[in-house]
Amino acid sequence: MDGEQFNEWKDQMTQQAMNAESLTDLQAARHQWLGRRGTITGAMKGLSSLPIEKRKVVGRQLNELREYALDLFKRCEENMELQAETSRLQAETFDMTLPGLWPQTGLLHPVTRTRRLVEDVFLRMGFSLEYGPEIEDEWYNFEALNIPANHPARDMQDSFFIDLPERVLRTHTSPVQIRAMQRYNRALPVRILAPGRVFRRDDDATHVPMFFQVEGLVIDHGISLADLKGTLQTMAHELLGDDIKTRFRPSYFPFTEPSMEMDVTCAACRGEGCRVCKGTGWVEILGSGMVHPQVLRNGGYDPHRVSGFAFGLGIERLAMRIFGIDDLRLLYQNDMEFLSQFQSYTGRPGL
Ligand code: DAH
Repeated sequence: MDGEQFNEWKDQMTQQAMNAESLTDLQAARHQWLGRRGTITGAMKGLSSLPIEKRKVVGRQLNELREYALDLFKRCEENMELQAETSRLQAETFDMTLPGLWPQTGLLHPVTRTRRLVEDVFLRMGFSLEYGPEIEDEWYNFEALNIPANHPARDMQDSFFIDLPERVLRTHTSPVQIRAMQRYNRALPVRILAPGRVFRRDDDATHVPMFFQVEGLVIDHGISLADLKGTLQTMAHELLGDDIKTRFRPSYFPFTEPSMEMDVTCAACRGEGCRVCKGTGWVEILGSGMVHPQVLRNGGYDPHRVSGFAFGLGIERLAMRIFGIDDLRLLYQNDMEFLSQFQSYTGRPGL
């Protein structure tokens, strides 16, 4: 082994490294020189058989050659990687004008939105929100509202009883009237709105076992039927539009006297008469009346000094009306495709 031999090797490996066409070629060449059985490695092993003087010289030259090889292959490898990256980037197209991907956002359920619309109307009229328990004492749900044990109204509202005879899933939000009166403790005016879930043993195209109601109650000195009509007409116009008409029909509820139901003009035919309204041009949206003296008394108020009106309406019916939905059950199937239709449309501009 001498300098000439080393120069030859150097040329050889340089040629190989420069001509390598792939990373695999390059690694094979590197292995051929620097691998465990490689030429340089072999030559280093052979050093021990040389006489000491020669060993020093050849050893130094070999070390230099090894350094050279390490550096050569490293740089060629880096070069090759850089080239690969560059051609990959050149081949890649990137269109800055493509629209981004929109994340899917959630939205409020039509029933929630309708409840909030109703709350908003009444909050602006000076009402405050009141809540009661969903599991209710029979006394609050029935007796205090003038519905005694043998009263036919108890059959009208087929109830879910929790423990007989004491507790029941409330069948309406009306018991919150009594709880509110107790909480106000004879203070005036009482002007509350009580939204919440109610439960009945019902399940068909127009009834579900759990639904939402909003209860309203106003008590003060000299509250009259005119206050009731004015308040509820205002609500109807706010929610359904100024061109809507309302009418009040005599009705019966044990907790009001007199009692009336409010109808609004049918949305499907605009009052002309159609299948939806059974040809009458009107659909019922709520029950109401002047609070029965006994109910006032049950809440701690003196019917000789104060009077009040109350009303109760179903939120789903109103939601169907506002959003133009024709089957109550669609509201509770949690079909995202169906529900997401109501992202911006409320059936009324500005809402
Ligand atoms: N509680 C009645 C129901 O569930 C609705 C109702 C009617 C509430 C008349 C009232 C009212 O406050 O005055 O059908």
